[in-house]
Formats: sequence, structure tokens, C-alpha cells
Amino acid sequence: MRFTIVYASATGHTEDIAERLNILLPGSELKDLDRIDFIKELEESEALICCTPTWNTGSDVKRSGTTWDDHIDNIPHLKLKNKPIGIVGLGDSAAFSKYFCDAMEELYRSFESAGGRMIGHVSIEQYIFDESKSVIDGMFCGLPIDEDNESEKTDDRLQAWSRTIIQETNSQ
Ligand SMILES: Cc1cc2nc3c(=O)[nH]c(=O)nc-3n(C[C@H](O)[C@H](O)[C@H](O)COP(=O)(O)O)c2cc1C
Repeated sequence: MRFTIVYASATGHTEDIAERLNILLPGSELKDLDRIDFIKELEESEALICCTPTWNTGSDVKRSGTTWDDHIDNIPHLKLKNKPIGIVGLGDSAAFSKYFCDAMEELYRSFESAGGRMIGHVSIEQYIFDESKSVIDGMFCGLPIDEDNESEKTDDRLQAWSRTIIQETNSQ
């Protein structure tokens, strides 16, 4: 199954991570959220990976600080039933330890409402943080990446997660 990787980024970290995932996932394609026909691209994809940073610290809504915020209310209305969808979140677990990667959860719930088959939940064990809205039932609802403090862990995290989502996508 081919993944379409859609990202939005304010200072480039999320874009870089999306590019690295694109290399790890055979046959995948990379899309800048700011340059796509949003409904068509998402609905016509076979499987989706949506990558977002968190910028609007402490906000209940529109936490990304990127174009995802403009689309977030429309996502539940998209036709995405049973489409495999994984979320990737960029954040800073030291400076924003109480809000670590909060934007992931908002995207997760929106895509789940649209009927997406949510894949790629991640154990909290390898992360140090105080709180995150993105912890659901004891697991992160996607892959958190911290380029500000733990960039040396990113390669391993991306590789492990890529293997997981390929497996979860194939084990339908
Ligand atoms: C003003 C500001 C607010 C931020 N708020 C949060 C936050 O609430 N939670 C978090 O995990 N990271 C937060 N961050 C860290 C960014 O999400 C992180 O640096 C990320 O890698 C940026 O991704 P981008 O370069 O793709 O925009 C914040 C950074 C800044 C400068």
C-alpha cells in the first residue's frame, strides 16, 4: 500500500522528518499541505501519514500553528472510511513538557471521526515529559519526534515506526 505523507511546518523540522519518512517507506509520496488540493489528495490516497508540529501552546483547539489549523474542522467530513492513517508530531519535551506534541491528538481525533483506521500508536516509555494531550489510553496516538532535544534518537524512532505502520497496514 502506498503512503501519502502530508506535512505542514513552521520552521522546517516537520518537513525534514516527512522527507526522511518518505525515504523509509517504499513507494510513498510527499506532499506539502500548503500546495495540495486538500480534499482530493486526502480522499484519493491509499494510506495517509499526517505530520504536524505543536506551536499554539496550551490551546484546546488549533494547536498546530500551521495550515492544519485551517483544515481541522473539515477533516471529520472527509470520506476516509477504513483508510489507514498515522500521525507524526513534532515537539519539544523540555521547554514545553506539559504540552508535549499536543497537536497530534487533535489531528488524530479529527481523522478518527472521518472513519480513518488509525495506526502507529507508540509507547510512552522512551520519552520524558510531564503531560501530553496526545496520550490516549496510555499510549501516544502517533509518533512524537523531538528534534530540539533528542535528535540522536530520531533515526531509530523513524525506522521502528515505519516498520510498525507497514505491518499494521498489511495486517488488515
Ligand atoms: C513559541 C513556541 C511554542 C511551542 N509550543 C510547543 C508546545 O506547546 N508543545 C511542544 O511539544 N512543542 C512546542 N514547541 C516546539 C516546536 O513544536 C518544535 O520546535 C517543532 O520541532 C517545530 O516544528 P517545525 O519546525 O516543523 O515548525 C514550540 C516552539 C515555539 C518556538
